Amino acid sequence: MNGPDAPGATPPAALPDTSDGGMKITVIENGPFIVTGGVPLTTMEYVYDDLGNCRSWNETTTYPLRERYALCRCGQSKNLPFCDGTHAQVGFDGTEAGDREPFLEGAVITRGPSLTLADNRHLCSHAGFCHRAGGIWNLVRFSDPESRAIAIEEACDCPTGRLVLYDNAAGEAIGQDLEKSIAVIVDPETGEQGPLWVRGGIPVVGADGTPYEVRHRVTLCQCGKSRNKPFCDGSHL
Ligand code: FES
Repeated sequence: MNGPDAPGATPPAALPDTSDGGMKITVIENGPFIVTGGVPLTTMEYVYDDLGNCRSWNETTTYPLRERYALCRCGQSKNLPFCDGTHAQVGFDGTEAGDREPFLEGAVITRGPSLTLADNRHLCSHAGFCHRAGGIWNLVRFSDPESRAIAIEEACDCPTGRLVLYDNAAGEAIGQDLEKSIAVIVDPETGEQGPLWVRGGIPVVGADGTPYEVRHRVTLCQCGKSRNKPFCDGSHL
């Protein structure tokens, strides 16, 4: 397998800036995310199946494109998803505790006949896309086309990037073709917003100026409750 996400690959010594036109997300100490470089912003709703599993996505809103904007990270803004300054009034503690270990160093590898799954639980937001049809960990152990297709859907629909699938024959990670953008995830059953689904490999830089590993999918906390800030850990649930 090849590429920086391949199981067993040596992590790069320096993180590449894969953004277009300087797209970047910067964490502000005890404040919002500052988004620069004209990153498209939308809202996406979960679509549930009859069993209550997350099954797919429905894009509901596209915001006007802006060069720079601030997204709330404390969960208390009255103008979500944008920051309105409330974080300063409520004494938001936005201390970052996010794991800076490269994805593959914290991943458990499951090798199947046609797919290999890398699973890093530290990134989970409990969206639940991975449970359908017996779960992705079971599906990758089979070689039939249906199991393979569902496993790929589950990995590619998971917003967090916890699950990365590799095609054994091609030696490449699957589903690394998302446009650079941010989607505010909305639960249609509760109407609640968050987390923020960052897609396409936009760099995220900590408040101390240290960049996190650039990932193709990652979810950032917007409720202020995560113990893995700036990443979502499912605490909003
Ligand atoms: S981070 Fe500013 S209002 Fe939430």
